[in-house]
Amino acid sequence: MSRFVKLATLGELPVGAAKEVEFEGRVYGLFNVNGEILAIDAICPHQGGPLVDGSLEGTMVTCPWHGWQFDIKTGKTPLGPKIKQAVFAVKIEGQEVLVAVP
Ligand code: FES
Repeated sequence: MSRFVKLATLGELPVGAAKEVEFEGRVYGLFNVNGEILAIDAICPHQGGPLVDGSLEGTMVTCPWHGWQFDIKTGKTPLGPKIKQAVFAVKIEGQEVLVAVP
């Protein structure tokens, strides 16, 4: 069962910002897309590229290493249904960004 854990504050994630947070061996990528905070597994499943360093267009992030793309809202990729990146629910409480960690 997942539980919500504070991984950041809103002050650390202004609109357009991305932040990598490590928690219990997993690396989470937090993005502020037009005021909405989204969380995705930050390690690209191709060869481990850092998705928070990728460019973002809407909710589509492009891995900076070889260009794989992921929708950070759904975890889906244009590469096809066999690859899906984990995404995590986010809850805001006051200034705290809480992420549903597995
Ligand atoms: S490591 Fe991300 S596309 Fe290769």
